[in-house]
Amino acid sequence: MPTPEPIPLVIDTDTAQDDCIALLVGLLDPRAELRAVTMVAGNVGFDQQVRNAFLTCNVAGRLGEVPVHLGCRRPLVRPWESAENVHGDGVGGMTMDLTGCAPEREHAVDALIRLAAERPGELSIAAIGPLTNIATAAIKDPDFARNVATLYVMGGSNNARGNITAAAEFNFYVDPEAAKAVFAAGFEIVVVPWAPLTLDQAVFAQPQLDEIAALDTPLSRFFTRVCAATLDFDRSVGIEGTTHPDSLTTALLLHPELIRRSARYHVDVETAGELTRGYAAMSWGVHGLEPNATVIEQINPQAFYNQIKTLLTLPPKPPRLGGFGVGGGSCTAWLGWRG
Ligand code: BDR
Ligand code: CA
Repeated sequence: MPTPEPIPLVIDTDTAQDDCIALLVGLLDPRAELRAVTMVAGNVGFDQQVRNAFLTCNVAGRLGEVPVHLGCRRPLVRPWESAENVHGDGVGGMTMDLTGCAPEREHAVDALIRLAAERPGELSIAAIGPLTNIATAAIKDPDFARNVATLYVMGGSNNARGNITAAAEFNFYVDPEAAKAVFAAGFEIVVVPWAPLTLDQAVFAQPQLDEIAALDTPLSRFFTRVCAATLDFDRSVGIEGTTHPDSLTTALLLHPELIRRSARYHVDVETAGELTRGYAAMSWGVHGLEPNATVIEQINPQAFYNQIKTLLTLPPKPPRLGGFGVGGGSCTAWLGWRG
């Protein structure tokens, strides 16, 4: 069977915890042609997110190979809200010397517009943070939505519980105006919701986490460390495992065969509600509204887990070693690399 062509994509990310695992997917999956990483305000402080993105590229042995563009440092209208109570710094205290790790001079919004326009209808985007950059690109360039092949959006819940409030999932809550604008902009959109999909089908339970730890590879140790703070938080709210909405979104973009069921919906996002800011109204076709998105309803959870696990067994190229640490010690030794 011929090897399928790699899929050109950009990951638009608020890099912390599962965003790091999603970046590993984009950086290391042979099906991915990762054209750029674009940064958006979300999970943790913006500059910390940028450090986390460079650190993840380094762990994957691909530092300097994929451009990192800085994007919007706050939501369109509202002040930034953090999820540091959930993710800590997003990388379990790992640090690296960032000398020489310059982000691109081009703003993320301009990079998104340019990359989509260079190959109209070919570039897909995994948008795994608030949708501020994507909405801004759509406002700036009327052709942007048409030029993007498919926009995979991690956000909202499918008429189910939120995570930052009863009604809202974090990415849509942080920038509801951007999310609303994106669903009205004419993109070909695939939505990967928080609930019920992620909570039912993309949580790695303790036996799976034990299996990952037992791989004892640099990348499995990275996974365990990056996910530790979020795992503690998840347990405190009754979720028995690590949550993987962002890596699932990226994996589905690259491997649609993981999707078992999806349906067309009309999706809109609440911006004005007293208790429902960021709520995603997903109308399933009986309310007379024109569908504007495909919502993933069911995946193959075991196959998704296997994809991630296989990735973590890879022997990546060694990272750049200098100044790469954890708690003042050497990260390279801790992760199992020798300089
Ligand atoms: C989303 O919010 C973030 O905390 C995660 O990275 C994910 O993108 C889940 O609500
Ligand atoms: Ca995210």
